[in-house]
Amino acid sequence: MIGIFDSGVGGLTVVKQVIQALPQYKIIYFGDTARIPYGSRSEAIIKKYSLQDTEFLLEKNAEIIVIACHTASAVAADYLREKFPQTKIFDVVQPGLDQALKVTRSKRIGIIGTEATVKSEVHERYLKKIDPQTKVFYQACPLLVPLVEEGWLKRQETRRIVRYYLKSLKKNKIDTLVLACTHYPLLAKIITEIAGKSVKVVDPAQEVAIQIKEYLQKNPTVVAKLTKNGQQHEFYASDVSDQFLNISHKILGKNISVKSAEVT
Ligand code: DGL
Repeated sequence: MIGIFDSGVGGLTVVKQVIQALPQYKIIYFGDTARIPYGSRSEAIIKKYSLQDTEFLLEKNAEIIVIACHTASAVAADYLREKFPQTKIFDVVQPGLDQALKVTRSKRIGIIGTEATVKSEVHERYLKKIDPQTKVFYQACPLLVPLVEEGWLKRQETRRIVRYYLKSLKKNKIDTLVLACTHYPLLAKIITEIAGKSVKVVDPAQEVAIQIKEYLQKNPTVVAKLTKNGQQHEFYASDVSDQFLNISHKILGKNISVKSAEVT
């Protein structure tokens, strides 16, 4: 199985893209809804929770792991790779940046995410390593996750807050904007409109699905181990709330059955 985890429901935006790119494989998803948000927590706690989430998926026989959460990707991806050297672990930071590098012309790239993601500066380090000319502009957008969770996807209030967050990025004349948070693809329309025609908006969820597909094409031994009955995906959450079910329907366009799981 392809194991995918997130701090909550937002990681289903990654699940959606993986299902589209690789419909033949079974997915097991864990959303840590009882402990969300990760984005305002310390590095130590984000690492601890990410480790527990990964252990849960591996115990359920996931063969590869996808960290759908940007906060966990930014803070804990290397830590998890050290802990599980035998397991292929994808994160969502690098794929988004690879795509950003492909589309940018001015090399002025904006990154929006949670406070922990922005604080990690992992995007800047990666981009500078590949192309030192690149200029990275960060903006933490802590209000966007609760707005999405509340279902305020088209409200004027949301629009105003997005405009506020994008102000400095626009002033800095970015030409590419990376949606470095699981929830932001649900606001992609508003963000794209407000960012303006000159800014290309990158959704890392699409690119990570492509990178998993490419990896599997080159690794038939991993493919041989994956369960290939894509229709019976398994979904777990540490708190199965109505909100989780509502948002999952918005993301996946259908009802899913979610089992409760305690992760310690
Ligand atoms: N999943 C988180 C991310 O992508 C957003 C929600 C949170 O703060 O845990 O960064």
